[in-house]
Amino acid sequence: MRRALPALLAAALATACRRPTVDAGPRAETSAGSGATSAPSTAPPPVEPPAAAAAAEVPPAPSASAQRHARAPAPPVVLPRALLSTLPSPGAHPSAGFTGPVDPALDAAWVSRLATAKVATIAWNGGGVSLTFKLKLADGHRAVFKPAQALPGSNHVAEIAAFHLDRLLGLGRVAVVVGRALPADALADAVTDPKVASRVARELAVRDGLVTGAMIAWHAAPLTSDDPPRGWRASLSGEGPIDDAIRARAGELTDLALFDFLLDNTDRWSGGNVLSLGKGGPLVFLDNASALLPSRARRRASLARELSQLCRFRRRAVDAVTAPRDLADELARSVALDPSGARLEPVVVDALRARVAALREHLARCRREHGDGVWLDE
Ligand SMILES: Nc1ncnc2c1ncn2[C@@H]1O[C@H](COP(=O)(O)OP(=O)(O)O)[C@@H](O)[C@H]1O
Ligand SMILES: [Mg+2]
Repeated sequence: MRRALPALLAAALATACRRPTVDAGPRAETSAGSGATSAPSTAPPPVEPPAAAAAAEVPPAPSASAQRHARAPAPPVVLPRALLSTLPSPGAHPSAGFTGPVDPALDAAWVSRLATAKVATIAWNGGGVSLTFKLKLADGHRAVFKPAQALPGSNHVAEIAAFHLDRLLGLGRVAVVVGRALPADALADAVTDPKVASRVARELAVRDGLVTGAMIAWHAAPLTSDDPPRGWRASLSGEGPIDDAIRARAGELTDLALFDFLLDNTDRWSGGNVLSLGKGGPLVFLDNASALLPSRARRRASLARELSQLCRFRRRAVDAVTAPRDLADELARSVALDPSGARLEPVVVDALRARVAALREHLARCRREHGDGVWLDE
């Protein structure tokens, strides 16, 4: 069911007082640039970031759902200055650089926007397994909000970490992600389906009326499901020719496999999580929430078996992940700059460090066994 956008919404937004409405806009941003990030808008005035989570919304008008949560006072809009001054990038390290769908040159504008822009409308995103919301921001840009929630395997901090890791490696396939807190009531009010509403009431991690989550920049073109044929790894084992069905995407798929191995993402192949930006367009690495789970880190679980099937990679991607650097520590430090207070637990960082070592060993073994046969054309 759709509710009409109230008249004079723009004026109401200027005072940040609004009820969420169903997003009636197009699925993809129409201001599409070359990447997932579109033109920056005027940034809000900088203010000192607080130590705790940033949330910029004034709670909506009273509603049934409003009674369930303590109403949070509206926190000030804050610019994430620490993150903006040290945006994740390869720096002096090799970059996996490959023409990806995301333009990191727009990261600063998106980081500011996602952290501070007023939220004009909130709509239930539907479809996926986790509870996610589509947001329209007051400047017209769009975002997805993936809140902290009870669903095992939905780790909003992993969404944030995936953005940082993507940029530290120079991949350019993950849309900008910034942590932010939004009023629980505004999210609850966006849901009309009673079943979903009861999930929202039970599963969102509400604290002082707010839910922290991952604000994810909306991709600039429609996303198309682009799962490779089953058994796609077989012809990338280093033996024999590459299957024609995956040849054009071989580099992207093995980049994705390296990325998912590092993040320990266990939900890439369940359907709907391998997506291209437009039909036949570049792969985006989207839905990275089933990753960096402390429970798996504690028992040192990894995707080693899946990785062991692959011995064909892009040389630049391998250079990026095997560069002499403590990638785990860099990622932990980078994520700690996020304004929501997101942190990677020490056990998660240690397990990531172990995976980086295991990945280096695997790549060295591939080189021993296949020599230059491991390299894919770029
Ligand atoms: N940043 C984004 N830009 C465009 N569409 C998105 C974005 N994030 C999510 N979506 C859409 O929402 C769907 C569900 O999001 P996803 O992160 O996969 O959630 P779930 O964990 O529920 O599977 C995606 O398959 C995609 O169609
Ligand atoms: Mg998904």
